[in-house]
Amino acid sequence: MPAIPALRDYLLTRRSVGQAFLAEPAPSGEELETLLTIATRVPDHGKLAPWRLVLYSGEARVAAGEALAALAQKKRPDIDAASLEAERRQFLPAPLVVGILSAPRAHPKVPEFEQLISAGNVAFNLVHGAYALGYAAQWVTRWYAFDADAAALLGARPDEKFVGFVHIGTPTAVIEDRPRPDLSQIVSVWQP
Ligand SMILES: Cc1cc2nc3c(=O)[nH]c(=O)nc-3n(C[C@H](O)[C@H](O)[C@H](O)COP(=O)(O)O)c2cc1C
Repeated sequence: MPAIPALRDYLLTRRSVGQAFLAEPAPSGEELETLLTIATRVPDHGKLAPWRLVLYSGEARVAAGEALAALAQKKRPDIDAASLEAERRQFLPAPLVVGILSAPRAHPKVPEFEQLISAGNVAFNLVHGAYALGYAAQWVTRWYAFDADAAALLGARPDEKFVGFVHIGTPTAVIEDRPRPDLSQIVSVWQP
C-alpha cells in the first residue's frame, strides 16, 4: 500500500472552520454526489447502512430556521428577540448543511452502539470529503439534534437520532489551530 503524503499532511493539520466563516459556494451536482459517496464509505458492521442523510440547502435553510424559531418560541414563550433571531439563523450562513441520522436496524450480532458509531463516522467522513473537494466544514449538534420535536421537524423519523449537522462551504477566514491532546495523557500500553 503506497503512502499518501498529502492525506497524512491533511490529517495532521486539518481544522474545522466554524459555520460563521463558511460562505458560497458549496458542492453541488456531481461534486455533491462524490461528497455523499465519500461520506457513506465508512466502517459498517454487517453492511446495514444504519444512517440517513438530510440535506438543507438554498431557501430551505431559511425555512428550517423559521420552523426552529417557531418551535423554540412555543417551548420557551419568554425567549428574547436575539435568541429567536439566532434560531432563525441556525442553518445560515453555510450554503449547505447535511444532517446525519443514526437509523439503527434490529440485528442479532450488531449492537445499536456499533451502528451509532458508524453514523458518527459518516459525519466525520463528510467533513473530510468536504476538504478533499476544496471546501471546509464544521460538525455541530445544538439543541435541535436532541429535541424529538425539532428532530422530527428537520426530517428524523421515529427511532432515528441526529448525530449532528455538518455545515459545508468555502472558508472566509483562516482559523488558528487549537490545543491538541497530549498523547502521554491519553495513550497507555496495556500490560498483562
Ligand atoms: C458530536 C459533535 C458535536 C459537536 N457540536 C458542536 C457544536 O454544537 N458547536 C461547536 O462549536 N462545536 C461542536 N463540535 C466540535 C466541532 O465539530 C469541532 O471539533 C471543533 O470546532 C474543533 O475543530 P477541529 O475539528 O479543528 O478540532 C462538535 C463535535 C462533535 C463530534
